[in-house]
Amino acid sequence: MTVRHFLTLTDLTSGELSAILHRAIELKALHKKRENYQPLKNRILAMVFEKSSTRTRVSFEAGMAQFGGHAIFLSPRDTQLGRGEPIEDSARVLSSMADCIMVRTFEHEKIECFAEYSSVPVINGLTDEVHPCQLLADMQTFLEHRGDIKGKTVSWIGDGNNMCHSYMHAAKLLDFKLNIACPEGYDPNSDFIDETSTHVEQMRDPAEACKDSDLIVTDVWASMGQEDEQARREAAFAPYQVNSKLMSVARSDALFMHCLPAHRDEEVSAEVIDGNQSVVWDEAENRLHAQKALLEFLLVE
Ligand code: CP
Ligand code: NVA
Repeated sequence: MTVRHFLTLTDLTSGELSAILHRAIELKALHKKRENYQPLKNRILAMVFEKSSTRTRVSFEAGMAQFGGHAIFLSPRDTQLGRGEPIEDSARVLSSMADCIMVRTFEHEKIECFAEYSSVPVINGLTDEVHPCQLLADMQTFLEHRGDIKGKTVSWIGDGNNMCHSYMHAAKLLDFKLNIACPEGYDPNSDFIDETSTHVEQMRDPAEACKDSDLIVTDVWASMGQEDEQARREAAFAPYQVNSKLMSVARSDALFMHCLPAHRDEEVSAEVIDGNQSVVWDEAENRLHAQKALLEFLLVE
C-alpha cells in the first residue's frame, strides 16, 4: 500500500482539499460542543522540529490528545538527528514506532528524504519552500467568514516566501485569483510561478495588487533562518507594509490574514492586525481544527 504524505498542498486533489476544509469546520463544532470523538486512540504522532514553533507544535499536540492519541516533541538539541544521524535512518526508526511524523525543517529536500524512508505518513510542518498546514487553516478561515473562495481575488503582499508559495498552490487548487506584490529580488521561486501561472499574477505595486481584493495576506519580511538579513530586508520591504491606506484599496469587506508571529508596524500596521478586518486569531485557532481534519484524512481508514 502506498503511504499518503502531505509535503505540499498539491499532494491533495482539489476535491480532497475541499473535503478537509469542510470537515475541519465540522470538527471545530464537535470540539466546541465538547463531544468526545477519539478516532486516533493509542496512535502516536512524532514531531521533529528543527525550527521554533508555537502554533504548529501546540495545535498538533492538542489535536492528537483530543483525538485520543499522543504526540512526541523531538528537537535536534536532544535527539541523535541533531548529532548527525542520517535522515534515512531516523525516518526508518521513527516510522517503526509512530503512526505519523510531522517535520519542520529548512531545506525541502530533507522532508522529501524523510518521506521516502518513512513507512508512515509524513506531514510538512513548514520548510523553507512551503507551509501547507497554514494554508489549510487560512482557507478554512476564509470559508467560515465569506464562503467559497472560488473566483475571489486574494493579494499576497511582501516576501515571495514559503507562505507565498503555498498560497500559489491554493489559488490553483481552489480556483481563485492571486495577485502577488513583492519587491524586486524577493519574488517567488520561478518553478512555482510556472506551475501556477493560470491563477497567479505578479505586480510590483502593492496598491495595484490589492485593488478589489477579497483577502489581503502578508508575512514577516525575514523568515526563520534569515535573521541576519533583517536590516537589508526592512529597507527593501518598507513600501510593502499592509496598513489602512493599502486596505482601503481592497473591497470594503476584505479580510486580513497573517500566519503569525507578526511584527507590528513592520509588515503590518498595528491598526490593521488589531482592526476589525483582521481574522488572525480565528486563523491561528483553525490550525487545530484543520490539522485534525488532515490527521483524520491521513490516518483513519
Ligand atoms: N504560523 C505558524 O506556523 O506558527 P508557529 O511558527 O508558531 O508554528
Ligand atoms: N515565513 C515564516 C513563517 C512562519 C510561520 C517563516 O518561515 O519563518
